[in-house]
Amino acid sequence: MPAPDPEALLAWYDIHRRRLPWRAEAGRRADPYHVFLSEIMLQQTTVKAVVPYFDAFLRRWPTVAHLADAPLEEVLSAWAGLGYYARARNLHACAKAVVARHGGRFPANEVLLLDLPGIGPYTAAAIAAIAFNLPASPVDGNIERVVTRLHAVEEALPKAKPRIRALAAELVPPRRPGDHAQAMMDLGATICTPKSPACALCPFSAPCRARAEGTMLRYPVKTKK
Ligand code: ADE
Repeated sequence: MPAPDPEALLAWYDIHRRRLPWRAEAGRRADPYHVFLSEIMLQQTTVKAVVPYFDAFLRRWPTVAHLADAPLEEVLSAWAGLGYYARARNLHACAKAVVARHGGRFPANEVLLLDLPGIGPYTAAAIAAIAFNLPASPVDGNIERVVTRLHAVEEALPKAKPRIRALAAELVPPRRPGDHAQAMMDLGATICTPKSPACALCPFSAPCRARAEGTMLRYPVKTKK
């Protein structure tokens, strides 16, 4: 079994990446505010549903300082339809904290990001990697599936989370950690799907243990509820 080659994933991403409004052009870093806004919206909501809201928020509040100055009621009503309104309250509280603590610029530091209201480990790592190209490794459900298949992780979720995070971190290449994070997301969303993974098209098919054993649908293992 060859080791997974992060360069093969990046080469796949350069051709097949999804063009999404919060992503920068090739070779450029995304705006931290755009990454922040999109990642909060994408929690529990599909890409397709998020795109029009993302565009509308940016038109109305083009910077984090504009969002911080907005009355909470306006933010909540612009959020209407996305659901999980706690996210909109957190979004607003976080914008205010970025202005108050950091002069309106998101800090290029995972620990300081994590300290902001409404930003958990996933979002802090996503902003650090995608906006600042720091070697951080956000792990969401899609990435859990990719990693558990790649390594045939038998331990069940949620207990396996620390192991999965460590395996995901090992994969991060030094050169393009932000593109790597988004490539892992796209791989999970478009190739390494829950029910019918397209292994023939996957840049990690040679090193994938689940693929070798034909057991892709077994992973991620979950404890029975
Ligand atoms: N899901 C969560 N974050 C994402 C991102 N940055 N791009 C695409 N899908 C995502």
